Amino acid sequence: MASNEQLIGRQDVDDLGAILAVANTDVDEAIHTVADNSDAIFTWDYEKGARPALNKLYEKAKNSQWNGETDLPWDTEVDVEKLASEMGGNPVIQRFREAARIPGSPFEHFTEREWTNLVIEGQNWRLSQFMHGEQGALLCTAKIVESVPWIDAKYYAATQVMDEARHVEVFAKYLDTKLTGHYPINAHLKMLLDDIINDSRWDMTYLGMQVMVEGLALAAFGFMQQMTPDPLLQQMLRYVMSDEARHVAFGVLSLKEYYEGLTDAELRERQEFAFEAAVRMRDRFLQQEVWDRMGIKPSEILPLVIQDPGRGMFQQMLFSKIVPNCKKLGLLDAGDGWLRTKFTELGVIQFEDWQDTGEEYEALQATG
Ligand SMILES: [Fe+2]
Ligand SMILES: [Fe+2]
Repeated sequence: MASNEQLIGRQDVDDLGAILAVANTDVDEAIHTVADNSDAIFTWDYEKGARPALNKLYEKAKNSQWNGETDLPWDTEVDVEKLASEMGGNPVIQRFREAARIPGSPFEHFTEREWTNLVIEGQNWRLSQFMHGEQGALLCTAKIVESVPWIDAKYYAATQVMDEARHVEVFAKYLDTKLTGHYPINAHLKMLLDDIINDSRWDMTYLGMQVMVEGLALAAFGFMQQMTPDPLLQQMLRYVMSDEARHVAFGVLSLKEYYEGLTDAELRERQEFAFEAAVRMRDRFLQQEVWDRMGIKPSEILPLVIQDPGRGMFQQMLFSKIVPNCKKLGLLDAGDGWLRTKFTELGVIQFEDWQDTGEEYEALQATG
């Protein structure tokens, strides 16, 4: 039975020293190579619609393509300073401002300029990580096209490859043309994407990317869309979320069928993988690179951040799609309910009965 130490490299999930010890040391690398270890699978069974839910999703996807160059209002002027001051009242920044009242807090002598910079850097960092995550999705879905044995799934995954190309494209364009100073990939996110791609089992690509990473992205894009006053970014996120909801549905619908045939021992490996992914994503939220750039030692600020109950709530909300989807897949309670115990320890089990994402894409449709 794997321990936390074996799964995530530390016993205590909140061990800050261990989390911060993982840092991206290759920030100047231009390319990054990962062995993807899987077989490319042909199927000679071309019967379209043998899996009606996947076929429906595929047909939907064909009619939902948008063009990142022509469908978004790129001529919108993005005044970063003005947007930052409008966003300065958001709950995340308000909580840091409250922390500034604690004597000796790293924020104690923060000037208005520095508060504005913190908002700007946080936004750059988040959008940069979205962009890197989108490239992860692009590579993963290309891999799914090769490795999944069902024709309906290959067809659908092919549409997702195109969706992800568009997502990388629009995030990169927004960062390049509207913001300045974007960030390299966060080490925890990189480790997670590498693990997903490295796994030889086709369903692990789905579980890691479609259910975990995209489930979190769907929630995170929703927050950013509500938080940003920029109409260009709002519109961009609306389009991206409309695609992402289909992607998560694709994961849930495919794995539901496949997991019904697995043994408890095999399911346990999936539970462990889901837990590892959840912890990596949680570690990433600490945005250690932003603190570094702001000249604040992460080890001084993060104990305050971690204890903050408001932040806890915000982080937990990011799991609001993942937990019901894991439940729908039978992963929470398989075997001895190991994943239920782990999600309880992470403080996210309360979302188990929220709406799963098998059908949500209908409601988030933004085109056609
Ligand atoms: Fe995407
Ligand atoms: Fe996606």
